[in-house]
Amino acid sequence: MEFLTLDRERCNADGLCAAVCPSGCLEADADGRPVVAEEKLCIACGHCVAVCPKSALTISRVDPAAMTKTLRHWPDPEIVDGMLRGRRSIRAYKDTPVARETMEALLDVARFAPTASNAQEVGWCVTTDPAKVHDLAAMTAAYFAAAGTRPKYSAMWTDGRDAFLRGAPALAVAYAPDDAPYGAADCGIALTFMELAAVARGLGTCWAGLLVRAARNDAALAKALGIPQGCVIEGGLMLGYPALRYAAVPPRNAVRARWL
Ligand SMILES: Cc1cc2nc3c(=O)[nH]c(=O)nc-3n(C[C@H](O)[C@H](O)[C@H](O)COP(=O)(O)O)c2cc1C
Repeated sequence: MEFLTLDRERCNADGLCAAVCPSGCLEADADGRPVVAEEKLCIACGHCVAVCPKSALTISRVDPAAMTKTLRHWPDPEIVDGMLRGRRSIRAYKDTPVARETMEALLDVARFAPTASNAQEVGWCVTTDPAKVHDLAAMTAAYFAAAGTRPKYSAMWTDGRDAFLRGAPALAVAYAPDDAPYGAADCGIALTFMELAAVARGLGTCWAGLLVRAARNDAALAKALGIPQGCVIEGGLMLGYPALRYAAVPPRNAVRARWL
């Protein structure tokens, strides 16, 4: 299969495909039509195909059948900003389980998070089984009890209160190959996409930093989570339906920005 297939009838020679190519793989010829400058530079981001108003080109590395439409209008900034400000870390969950289909929908959306050089190497270990989340919390508790670094949380665990995974009914952790140059950023962004998609569905979330710290230091916990060899856990989210609502948005530090 040719790397680039161009329908010359449809192509309106606007040069858009070459203009959006981030890697220099495609260039425009004198007429504004795409030519392959260096095929090996392609990162399969799909921009060249997606930007074409005439659907005039395909790239062998981008499946045209898997392309979907973008929204014609984004939600109002007031709505988006309100959600970003109003999202809270939820540490009290209803018993209501998270449906497997809901978790699948969140994983599906998180695929669209940006990754460095479009590497798309983020992997997930997920469960919607509250008993499994509890078992992982128990292993986390055991790690911190042995390390002695969170005595209050360990005491709470002994009292039957889960300060590690907050009694959440569902959990998602993201991992990346340990040699991925931007693995931490890629996983963090994917988790953030998941978090916001979860909030939009009425779920509450809380980042599971303690679990991540424990899993990085306890091979048995990393194995129980299913983190593959050669990969590193970069973040995790507890998920469930919130048992409470926040009436207000708490204040945050003032912006710290230097204008250059
Ligand atoms: C990387 C990261 C790790 C976190 N780990 C935990 C955690 O293990 N347990 C917890 O209760 N909250 C955890 N949090 C939640 C933070 O405490 C919380 O985001 C912060 O207090 C601000 O509150 P907000 O999320 O409601 O705005 C974590 C947050 C981040 C970003």
